[in-house]
Amino acid sequence: MNWFKGNIMSTLVVVGTQWGDEGKGKVVHYLSQRADMIVRYQGGNNAGHTIIFENKPFVLHLIPSGILFPKKLCLITNGVVIDPVDLYKEAQLLRSKGLPVDGRLLISEAAHLILPYHKYLDELRERGKIRIGTTRRGIGPAYADKVTRLGIRVIDYLEKDVFVELLDRNLKEKAPLLKKIVSVSALRREIMKDYPRLSRFLAPLVTNTALVLEKAIVKKKKVLFESAQGTLLDLDFGTYPYVTSSNPIAGGACTGAGIGPTKINNVLGVVKAYTTRVGEGPFTTELNDSTGEYLRERGQEFGATTGRPRRCGWFDAVLLRHSIRLNGIDSLVLTKLDCLEGLKALKICTAYKYKGKTITEMPASRKIQKLCTPVYEEMPGFTGSIKGITKFSGLPVNAQAYVKRMEKLIGTRINLISLGRKREEIIVVEKTNVWY
Ligand code: IMP
Repeated sequence: MNWFKGNIMSTLVVVGTQWGDEGKGKVVHYLSQRADMIVRYQGGNNAGHTIIFENKPFVLHLIPSGILFPKKLCLITNGVVIDPVDLYKEAQLLRSKGLPVDGRLLISEAAHLILPYHKYLDELRERGKIRIGTTRRGIGPAYADKVTRLGIRVIDYLEKDVFVELLDRNLKEKAPLLKKIVSVSALRREIMKDYPRLSRFLAPLVTNTALVLEKAIVKKKKVLFESAQGTLLDLDFGTYPYVTSSNPIAGGACTGAGIGPTKINNVLGVVKAYTTRVGEGPFTTELNDSTGEYLRERGQEFGATTGRPRRCGWFDAVLLRHSIRLNGIDSLVLTKLDCLEGLKALKICTAYKYKGKTITEMPASRKIQKLCTPVYEEMPGFTGSIKGITKFSGLPVNAQAYVKRMEKLIGTRINLISLGRKREEIIVVEKTNVWY
């Protein structure tokens, strides 16, 4: 089969195919070298991308890691919810490392803001009956305000009189809830105290990013769209209600950045060799045993944003097929294969069982998602360090067989295999386009 479509592939969307934390940060960092422009289109500072820069781990929550390369333009577009306090801190951190964002970071005037009251509301909701296990960054409440048309956009923030009016309207409406944990007047004072510094910082970065993008695409500039979180956390297609409040799927790049679907050339999925999830919610292949513990330790599976230990389990082909279909993924990057090394046997979930019935597609029912059991296929494991290997044929035979079996079960080509956190620790199985 010819995986190369032969067209000029100038736009690429990179998506997570599982519950986030697939290693997108490293993959995006690797691909950013070839990009002219890197676009973050949804989510907020709930994401945490760990990259190794000058031999040190570095976590970015909002600003695309492409900012670490000089001459790349980074965009935070309308679909993102921006906490200006955290964005400011991130920009200052970059500046302290000799990487000022000025002139290289643009922010959409239509992006919505996360203000301190959103974080309190997130906190309050998490004390309620249905605990999602959110990052408590105020993501859900900020998107809720956007949908109910109470939201405050970046452009509204910059027009002080508009901002003050909207702020007061919001605080008045939310006061009965906020009063349970915070003084509303103190909260208002805090917001207004930060206002001069934050608005001065934001003003030169703000523009119509959809227009900037359109111009770049017309000029055939290479544009990389990076998704945050993962497909199974998608508001519409994830394990609802245990999801985030935006659309990480590739289609989210259209609404989240303001480009038409015909402008997307390729979609690359990032998939981990096993499965992890943070927070609450169903997880059919979860391992609450020493193998799960082994994966957590080997993979250093602790949240980059919250430090929470991630739940670990076997690879789930049912969920991957769901992700591949929803995103229109045409090839995959496999990450953390090295973390499976040393396990005697490897299991792949090929279907689920519920009340004696076999299920091959991800069920929408919360009950079935919670109660179904995995159907496993078992394969022999591999031993010996695979770090530093640069060719697919150099991998142990059992590791090769595992990758081939994954490809067969999910019907999609694995083009790249990442074997470590460093940018260069990657096997290009087959070079198929301008990106990989
Ligand atoms: P929220 O996005 O903070 O509202 O959290 C909703 C759910 O998404 C929780 O289960 C979080 O743990 C999860 N989540 C949010 N961001 C990430 C991420 O970047 N990686 C993995 N899980 C995430």
